Amino acid sequence: MVGVFISFEGIDGSGKSTQARILFDTLVSAGMPAHLTREPGGSAGAEDIRALVLNGAADRWSPETELLLFTAARRDHLEKTILPRLAAGEVVICDRFADSTRIYQGLTRGDLRASVDALHALMIGIEPDLTVLIDLPAQAGLARATARAGADMRFEGMGLAVQKAARDGFLALAHANPTRFVVIDGGRDQDTVARDVWDVAAARMAAR
Ligand code: ADP
Ligand code: TYD
Repeated sequence: MVGVFISFEGIDGSGKSTQARILFDTLVSAGMPAHLTREPGGSAGAEDIRALVLNGAADRWSPETELLLFTAARRDHLEKTILPRLAAGEVVICDRFADSTRIYQGLTRGDLRASVDALHALMIGIEPDLTVLIDLPAQAGLARATARAGADMRFEGMGLAVQKAARDGFLALAHANPTRFVVIDGGRDQDTVARDVWDVAAARMAAR
């Protein structure tokens, strides 16, 4: 049995976690085997790395070290969680995956896209069957993320220019990978967004 791998991407505050959770709940209610996970994290080792990478002073890690930590976390997540569950035929829903590294370490927090792609090819090597990009203007994402203000503070205060660059970067990735990505307008109420997410996810699952 082979499952379906769905990732959610977008800027901070775009509504990824909300939509990933709604899709997961919908699948479970329909009796489908599904697993909700996130990056950085999603396995015991990767959650330990998450605590290292998201906490502390902004200059705690260089972009290069960050790239290695995110990739190490992803490798553990892949080995321990994603691949076994796909092999068991589950729908794996992941809140952020490699596109976040392409954008943050590759573009906005570092200028390391070539290294990101090389490490991905060497250590990860798979892409989701479907990537849902929840698109939102930078200002709106920042306002939502600031209002929520959680415990992982290292990446807070990234500023509007960085959020704008990240949004544009995600849209460019979607444009370059039109068969894998679907872009959904996250600026509407969450039930309307969720209906669009369901439509694309159901179509992609039916096609497999
Ligand atoms: P992300 O995972 O992309 O950072 P979240 O799903 O955590 O975003 O949402 C960020 C904040 O915005 C949360 O407080 C959430 O309740 C709220 N939110 C999520 N979706 C919507 C929406 N469609 N409209 C208004 N607020 C939303
Ligand atoms: P997350 O907890 O998903 O934040 P949010 O819910 O606010 O979107 O991710 C934490 C931060 O980690 C986020 O600012 C993006 C960053 N990140 C990277 O820089 N590189 C990566 O590879 C991943 C997965 C996340």
